[in-house]
Amino acid sequence: MEHSNQLRQIANNLVQKGKGILAADESNPTCKKRFDSIGIESNFNTRNEYRDLLFTSEKIEEYISGVILFDETLRQNTTCNKNISFPELLISKGIIPGIKVDKGAKNLEGFPNEKSTDGLDGLDERLGEYYTLGARFAKWRAVITIGDNIPSNACIHANAHSLARYASKCQQAGIVPIVEPEVLMDGTHTLETCNDVTNKTLKSVFHQLKMYNVMLEGIVLKPNMIISSIDCPVQANIEKVADMTYQCLQENVPKNVPGIAFLSGGQSGDLATSHLHVMNKKYRNNTPWNLTFSYGRALQYDALNVWSGKNENRKMAQESFIFRAKNNSLATFGKAAVLK
Ligand code: 13P
Repeated sequence: MEHSNQLRQIANNLVQKGKGILAADESNPTCKKRFDSIGIESNFNTRNEYRDLLFTSEKIEEYISGVILFDETLRQNTTCNKNISFPELLISKGIIPGIKVDKGAKNLEGFPNEKSTDGLDGLDERLGEYYTLGARFAKWRAVITIGDNIPSNACIHANAHSLARYASKCQQAGIVPIVEPEVLMDGTHTLETCNDVTNKTLKSVFHQLKMYNVMLEGIVLKPNMIISSIDCPVQANIEKVADMTYQCLQENVPKNVPGIAFLSGGQSGDLATSHLHVMNKKYRNNTPWNLTFSYGRALQYDALNVWSGKNENRKMAQESFIFRAKNNSLATFGKAAVLK
């Protein structure tokens, strides 16, 4: 493959020990939801200020290997230096800029309450432009919902197929695809059900990736952990989540995938860190792939709340963000979090 060395190198850099990925690619509607929760308006300028706060945090480069951006953010400049774009700022710190390229999860026709992700149309052209703007990796999120008689085979197949087509297009463009099949934690289902569905989903995803000749050394897998759903009356403990997640990955993820960067999916910041910590503590010497984080909410919750849209809180918000990033960095070495 034309870009194989470059793809390998980028993928390995993204999942290097001690570092993980910051998912800051909330679409404008999702960003509005987050900003609504702290009572501030979401517009071009407030989104710019907030992302600037995160990316200019002191020592971010010690813990973060890559940042996933939204289309608008990839084109924005830092607020203190209007001549420097966010990708340029990140690159200057040794952080790899990434870009969300999917167009969102839409209703899967004929399958009530199930989704498939749009965005393959015109993707080649968009990837070409994103590359020139500095992006070297991309993200596509597929959503699998657990409920009464769902997920259907059709839903799993449709999502696995789109992920493979997306991944192949990215690699043709010299961009590392983050392959994100997210089994949602919404609902009342048990950890065992999450395990069954995730198993089935990952099998289908790797089957499709193989069919489309995706080079596994040049991807990063971004899965959910095996976890009890939010409203499940019995919540599995941290040890159990770590064990089941590791087992599920071992069964399904080929050894030549360089790394697995988990999504947080609605877990609290503390829990997302603890799960990663225990998994690495127990298994890091036996895994062929590095286990790290690609968190959105679990890295940002505190910073967003501390900031609350006020410039005078900026420094404190940056410290909250770095506190989370540092603890997740420690977790990748199997080390426990430091206290505040
Ligand atoms: P969360 O960690 O908030 O789940 O976000 C990660 C992400 O990128 C979802 O696509």
